[in-house]
Amino acid sequence: MKSEEKRKLLNEIKEYWNQHIHDLEIVQHPIGSKGFFEDLDEYRFDKLRYLPTVVDFKGYKGKKVLEIGCGAGIDLIRFARGGAEVTGVDLSETAIDLAKKNFQINGLKADLRVMNGEALEFKDKSFDLVYVHGVLQYTADSRKMVEESYRVLKEGGEFMGMVYNAKGWLMVLSKLMKVGLEHEDAPVLDLYTIKEFKELLSEFKEVKLVPERFPVKTRLHKGLKAFFYNTLFVNIFNLIPRSLVRPWGWHIMAFGIK
Ligand SMILES: C[S@@+](CC[C@H](N)C(=O)[O-])C[C@H]1O[C@@H](n2cnc3c(N)ncnc32)[C@H](O)[C@@H]1O
Repeated sequence: MKSEEKRKLLNEIKEYWNQHIHDLEIVQHPIGSKGFFEDLDEYRFDKLRYLPTVVDFKGYKGKKVLEIGCGAGIDLIRFARGGAEVTGVDLSETAIDLAKKNFQINGLKADLRVMNGEALEFKDKSFDLVYVHGVLQYTADSRKMVEESYRVLKEGGEFMGMVYNAKGWLMVLSKLMKVGLEHEDAPVLDLYTIKEFKELLSEFKEVKLVPERFPVKTRLHKGLKAFFYNTLFVNIFNLIPRSLVRPWGWHIMAFGIK
């Protein structure tokens, strides 16, 4: 992609995420209030039940953690509560303003900046962990974002990322039920196979990819579709042993070492 084209695309991405706060649909409290951040946290960790089982948010005490595409800081604040020294960057001003409010309301410290994760303004080897959850699939050049993550990690530092699975159950269901994916209208939304994601992370050592995120009852949709989804689909799907459905997890979580 030519640099002018890429600049334009990154601007569109920024504008899109300035207008779309992730998971805003389910929030009951006024934007930016304590209840607002609690709603976001409660919804996220109900929907993504797997996340605290694979990410040790309390395990980085005294370590330097960078989150790229931190949104309102819902995950980053968990690292901070665990004693990590946290930095969060996001292309969107709205996201960074909210993340600042989230940390302020909760009396926690963070270095939060509007920044492009494809051109990080940090020195080489600055962080112990780079965390990129649900971001690589929405950026203009995911390879560049991975290269930058690698560059700013210390030797032996950890990378954790998540992209959507091109062969995931939600993709299949969305096509069958003709219900669009969340943020399908974003300027970029790329899906990855496990093989493609592995290839993207080939610079890292000890790369482990784990498909996660299996169906839980939806609060987002209403009506007949939601009724069938909640009563039939979720219950039947979850009767199937995880070992059989594992390759169709909607989120591919990746772990790697520099
Ligand atoms: C789906 S939201 C995910 C937010 C958060 N990580 C979460 O999981 O709730 C995607 C976020 O990635 C950010 N983003 C996309 N491209 C980016 C880039 N090149 N640099 C920094 N942030 C980016 C967007 O602004 C948006 O806040």
